[in-house]
Amino acid sequence: MFHAHTLQLGILASGSGSNAQAMLDAVAAGRLDARIKLVLTNCPNAGVLQRAKDANIPALCVDHTAFATREAFDAALAGTLHEYGVDTVALAGFMRMLTPGFLDAFPGRVLNIHPALLPAFPGGHGASDAFSYGVRLAGCTVHFVDAVMDHGPVIIQAAVPVEDHDTAKDLQKRILACEHRIYPQALQWLAEGRLTLHGRRVRLAPGTRLAPVVMENALICPPLEM
Ligand code: GRF
Repeated sequence: MFHAHTLQLGILASGSGSNAQAMLDAVAAGRLDARIKLVLTNCPNAGVLQRAKDANIPALCVDHTAFATREAFDAALAGTLHEYGVDTVALAGFMRMLTPGFLDAFPGRVLNIHPALLPAFPGGHGASDAFSYGVRLAGCTVHFVDAVMDHGPVIIQAAVPVEDHDTAKDLQKRILACEHRIYPQALQWLAEGRLTLHGRRVRLAPGTRLAPVVMENALICPPLEM
């Protein structure tokens, strides 16, 4: 699909930005072949703005309420991302649905993370919905984005147990720790040009690493390499 190339990454986030931080850290540590060109948020108070500032990454807030339509907001977002030279977009807790117009501006290059094992528990409260339902295995998913919410082809998933004594917060924390590992990993596979799409199935071309990286108390597929 794509050859190996340094991702020119734009991060869209509405909240605290711990996933954005995991990407910043992975780039700084040389584990993620990306240049983070821009952090964009729709919330003036989003914690992610400070994280970007601390890392010396340009950060902007584009307030969606200033736009008459979703399409107009998305066109502004896409235009700004292109201005900054972004070719790949990572949604990291971005609480707005993107229109087909936005996705067409970055074909096959928009990823999202969701705090549940999709297709279970899509929507804005994946982890707490899974907890309330009483699942015994919860988790998170990184997927390509299509025009349907939390629906695009799955790149990687991590499953974690739900223990008897867990609170919803405990579970959220356990899931978030996995998110911080699988999201940079999925992006690195994209940078390496190893992901191909076959219908809804995403295939990962073999890499050079011999032993998978194991994360305690989580089942991750495909296995982590970093
Ligand atoms: C994460 O749970 C992510 O899965 C969901 O929104 C949350 C964002 O958290 N899409 P953070 O802002 O990255 O800390």
